[in-house]
Amino acid sequence: MPARKLLLLPGDGIGPEAMAEVRKLIAAMDSHLQAGFDVEYGLVGGAAYDAHGQAISEEDMGKALDADAVLFGAVGGPKWDGVPYEVRPEAGLLRLRKDLGLFANLRPAICYPALAASSSLKPELVEGLDILILRELTGGVYFGEPKTITDLGNGQKRAVDTQVYDTYEIERIARAAFELARTRSGRVCSMEKRNVMKSGVLWHEVVAQTHRDGYTDVQLDHMLADAGGMQLVRNPKQFDVIVTDNLFGDMLSDVAAMLTGSLGMLPSASLGAPDEQTGKRRALYEPVHGSAPDIAGQGIANPLAMIASFAMCLRYSFNMIAEADRLEAAIAAVLDQGYRTRDIMSAGMTEVGTATMGDAVVQKFLDLAA
Ligand code: NAD
Ligand code: IPM
Ligand code: MN
Repeated sequence: MPARKLLLLPGDGIGPEAMAEVRKLIAAMDSHLQAGFDVEYGLVGGAAYDAHGQAISEEDMGKALDADAVLFGAVGGPKWDGVPYEVRPEAGLLRLRKDLGLFANLRPAICYPALAASSSLKPELVEGLDILILRELTGGVYFGEPKTITDLGNGQKRAVDTQVYDTYEIERIARAAFELARTRSGRVCSMEKRNVMKSGVLWHEVVAQTHRDGYTDVQLDHMLADAGGMQLVRNPKQFDVIVTDNLFGDMLSDVAAMLTGSLGMLPSASLGAPDEQTGKRRALYEPVHGSAPDIAGQGIANPLAMIASFAMCLRYSFNMIAEADRLEAAIAAVLDQGYRTRDIMSAGMTEVGTATMGDAVVQKFLDLAA
């Protein structure tokens, strides 16, 4: 079997701290399960800027294009607040998404039974929650041109961001949503703002057409995105798959994070289109959270979002379904045992640091494999 080529981009802040726990898992899977990972490393974000003045080097972009999957930690932080916009840490992540063609961003929000009390919502609203936010990731206002700040010469400046969507971009994310829904509860809710945005009008039209053209077995609902945000905190379990654009998806997935207990719990997978010849998809896996500058360097970050992102990598890039299931079961088990990082701490539980949480998951994963 050819080696499984992984590129690790730990990034900044808590990114490397969380990634260290995934490295333990990779090592354990290699030595105990002969998983055969071929691991390369690269720099991204502020770390890359400090090393060579770019948010990701051409060499590391090359490695990312060559890898079967990229594991990404987090980027950004106050240290780089003053750097030029084009080379700010976040630009490295955006370039990876665009150049790898990662248009489909899967952000599952699952509330583990042990964490129902850690959510800011009442436990009964989130217990058993299992929803999937599917965020369009390579279009919309993130990449639309023009994107400028112009000096108007009268003491005023004008900032312009442009929201752009073409039919094919909406159609392919809609298809992805329907396909994913078929593997779940068979329901999709599409969110846009067609009441004020032309891109919302087209979004609604194309999603509805794609549905009529081949997915009528899936239940499709539409919601205005602001109302969708409200429904997400009013009654989150009404949803199965939510499909939405790049910006709404960014915001709604952070909202969904709090349903699960903490931003430190939410993983993600960013997938490209399957290659026509090989069927392989480019992919990047990252936690939804950022570099958390307020807690970086203290060894207290929750590594579970990063670890669960690795589970998604096993599932979607390497078809290691049993291992992915086992890793997710290991996460649930250590939570059941009472292990808690500070962000999910509650009375009667044991507060542990990043490394202890990681060690506990690795041990449980190996125990479950035995
Ligand atoms: P953030 O996600 O870094 O942090 C928000 C809050 O959640 C903080 O209080 C933080 O301590 C907490 N938190 C986040 N992850 C946690 C974890 N694993 N364990 C425990 N607590 C956790 O968002 P922010 O503070 O708005 O942004 C900080 C920087 O990160 C910015 O530069 C931003 O651009 C960047 N960012 C990067 C990514 C990414 O790399 N994918 C994502 C979001 C934000
Ligand atoms: C995310 C982040 C990124 C985004 C930033 C860091 C570019 O917030 O992945 O959710 O806005 O997409
Ligand atoms: Mn975000």
